Amino acid sequence: MENLEVLVQKVCEVARGAGHFLKEERKRFRQDAVREKRVHDYVSYVDKESERRIVSALRMLLPEAGFVTEEGSADYRDETYCWVVDPLDGTTNYIHDVSPYCVSIALRTRDMLLLGVIYDPSLDECFYAWQGGGAYLNGVPMHVSATNCLENAFAIVELPYESGRYARTGLHLISRMYGQVAGIRMNGSAALAMCYVAAGRYDTWQEAFIGKWDFSAAALMVMEAGGRVTDYYGSPCFLEGHHIVATNGWLHDEVLRLLSEALPEGM
Ligand code: IPD
Ligand code: CA
Repeated sequence: MENLEVLVQKVCEVARGAGHFLKEERKRFRQDAVREKRVHDYVSYVDKESERRIVSALRMLLPEAGFVTEEGSADYRDETYCWVVDPLDGTTNYIHDVSPYCVSIALRTRDMLLLGVIYDPSLDECFYAWQGGGAYLNGVPMHVSATNCLENAFAIVELPYESGRYARTGLHLISRMYGQVAGIRMNGSAALAMCYVAAGRYDTWQEAFIGKWDFSAAALMVMEAGGRVTDYYGSPCFLEGHHIVATNGWLHDEVLRLLSEALPEGM
């Protein structure tokens, strides 16, 4: 495989191409194109066509790699390398014509993230990182924030589709943070929320019941920007799971402590 620094630039071009497709298609998008995969989890031809384009471009870049993709148009047969693709993260934002939404692409081995690219076509923001090479926003190095106490934290509390199992945890976090931290937001795109932690815009984010495609590229971004990523129990082995905490590092233990007071059912 070629040098990761070179490969990541080619992947940025793939993500930009798909992102421009999303943005152009949004101009003629109609609500009757929307289908429900499960309760309140939506998809349309836009997600599928974006995935088709990304998969065919990535196949040319690295023919030996397999795929894990949100819309399932390609598969993984235990290849050494694997692309992890979300062709449209923030689908609910997108169908309501609200930002942010993005394309997310990671490359991993069986146990390690190698590179990550996330492109937001609305703001023309391309976030990218490669293992050991740092994290960048439109070519400029990114670093997490230096906020070191929860009272000053600008926090994201995302509420996943899985409301039945997550409501207690999400509401607990909000009730413990509301009035205690500098501000709480929801973002609607897990991938971009994590990029914003990497860029120092937010200080902390966490979500459970999400897919590998939602967090893989962005997790590398946060780590390469100097932050910390674990699962909800504090383990750095989060790659195969579905519950992730990403912070600037300073606030991580405090967020884990809040989570431990109300972990989701059966996790
Ligand atoms: C979703 C977004 C959202 C998060 C959900 C994800 P999708 O991905 O990242 O912010 O709350 O858990 O599934 O469906 O827009 O690709
Ligand atoms: Ca998606």
